[in-house]
Amino acid sequence: MAAGPLEIRRQDGALILTIQREERRNALDLATLQAFGDVFRHHLASEDRAVVVTGSGTSAFCAGADLKERRAMSLDQVRAQLLRYRSDLIWLSTCPVPTVAAINGAALGGGLELALLCDLRVASPTATFALPETSLGIIPAAGGTQYLPRIVGGAKARELILLGTRVDAAEALRIGLVHRVSAPDQPVLSDALRWLEPVLQGAPLAQRAALRALRAADRLDIDAGLEFERGCYELCLTSEDRVEALAAFADKRRPVFKGR
Ligand code: COA
Repeated sequence: MAAGPLEIRRQDGALILTIQREERRNALDLATLQAFGDVFRHHLASEDRAVVVTGSGTSAFCAGADLKERRAMSLDQVRAQLLRYRSDLIWLSTCPVPTVAAINGAALGGGLELALLCDLRVASPTATFALPETSLGIIPAAGGTQYLPRIVGGAKARELILLGTRVDAAEALRIGLVHRVSAPDQPVLSDALRWLEPVLQGAPLAQRAALRALRAADRLDIDAGLEFERGCYELCLTSEDRVEALAAFADKRRPVFKGR
């Protein structure tokens, strides 16, 4: 399905969103941000098992804010655009199913912040990563200063944001910025989909419950977190899928999950 700057399609249970602005290295203009928001408002369906975000071409996953568009903006328009990052992208970090960035090239500024909103990150071996905002007289304010320390730790986040250091895929893997680097002969999107098979073919209710509990760990203290975890377990306990998993184990066969 073509939706302007964002191609939306489904494959193997995943909703795949591809930014289609290769001529601007998939930079985020207002129309692209709005298209992301529209996915959550109109396209995300209960049968989607994961959401995968990627970019077109091999040069860039996303080169951040569209700096050509921004140059013509008033201060209030820039402020409004920043709010749009929050309103139209933030759902990737609260989406009921796992969100995955398949990073096919440079992820810079807002492009890296887009990837940071996702639960999982797979990179091509030629991908590069940086938050160069301070060198442009601003700060990463699409969540970068908050998400990056939670992912790579405060010390590394300070280096990446204050120095604007650019890291390659191997270094990104080493510091935990990405979970996986694809082999050179593997397109990152197909590699990510294959890697995601346990999610795409797993028990959907359990996947969702585990994700809710994991995300709660970012904001709750340990006592509240354990209580929240117990509630998430309870959601699975009465499911048909749990009964099916036990039956399949006894029968020595693969379980057939129905999401009930
Ligand atoms: N906003 C608008 N246009 C952008 C852009 C951005 N963030 N990033 C790249 N483009 C445009 C370039 O201006 C160029 O347009 P032109 O053909 O009209 O001159 C086109 O995309 C190709 O860019 P180019 O630099 O030639 O591509 P590349 O493949 O050699 O390098 C990048 C790709 C992403 C590494 C490089 O473009 C880059 O560093 N971009 C800036 C990233 C950035 O600083 N983002 C903002 C962070 S706050």
